[in-house]
Amino acid sequence: MKNKITKAIFPVAGMGTRFLPATKSVPKEIMSLVDRPLIQYAIDEARAAGIKEFIFVTSRGKGALEDYFDHAPQLEAELKRKGKKDLLEEVKNTNMDSGAIAYIRQHKPLGLGHAVWCARRLVGNEPFAVILPDDIIAAEKPCLQQMVEAFAENPGCMVAAMEVPKDRVSSYGVLDLKEDHGSLVSVKGMVEKPAPGEEPSNLAVIGRYLLTPQIFKNLNSKQTGAGGEIQLTDAIAQEITEGRDVYGYRFQGQRFDCGSKSGYLQATVSFALSRPDLRDDLMGFLHEVVAMDKAAQ
Ligand code: G1P
Repeated sequence: MKNKITKAIFPVAGMGTRFLPATKSVPKEIMSLVDRPLIQYAIDEARAAGIKEFIFVTSRGKGALEDYFDHAPQLEAELKRKGKKDLLEEVKNTNMDSGAIAYIRQHKPLGLGHAVWCARRLVGNEPFAVILPDDIIAAEKPCLQQMVEAFAENPGCMVAAMEVPKDRVSSYGVLDLKEDHGSLVSVKGMVEKPAPGEEPSNLAVIGRYLLTPQIFKNLNSKQTGAGGEIQLTDAIAQEITEGRDVYGYRFQGQRFDCGSKSGYLQATVSFALSRPDLRDDLMGFLHEVVAMDKAAQ
């Protein structure tokens, strides 16, 4: 089995119901953070970590997502003609090489574990990454790259991990810690969406995974778990019960839950403030809003 991770799965079959009606015709992953679709952030993070093959697990209605990665010769020619070099560069960066991107359909919404399992033939017998594009992570060194470096020293399934407030833990996969080494923790158990009071810790799984191909065998059983869905968390937990190492990785960076409206808005503000061309205007506006809000109280 080769050890270098060059393939990533992007589960993008979800209907995006939390963003209806916007997602009635626009896939959630195409919604933009400042001026780039959410999926572009995930792709860039994957590229920085050395990923060469991008596998999308899609569903009906995700055509716009496939189009987004196509070359756009007319648009590129027009930008070139108008001398808009910077924009041309931006657009070219979104192009994917022929054969680097593959789409697989998940025909029924049976859960994240099932979505990953759908890509088993494209991954084959090698370790791979999974990126959930809803989780956007702003970091100096991209989160997946941090994990790939840790994986080189500690081969074994690895999940990104972050402490979350106690009252939010039951929305996540949660780690039961064996040994805590700071960034790296070894894990003795994992629970998907534990009932309040039953969480083994408040260290939650965030949507970045490095997985060994054994996971596909675990997912073969199609065992359902939390919410009646086939859970990736359960397939990873099975690794532990079968005696293999599983790690959590406390990444450096700020995570935004762009699957929720509030998280998406926070990410929008934060990413816009980090842009020199937008920062001053937006900051001025935010100060005004806060002052008006205070005056009204
Ligand atoms: C999924 C995973 C969960 C993880 C979360 C991170 O849940 O099943 O283990 O903690 O992503 O965002 P979802 O948010 O799809 O319900």
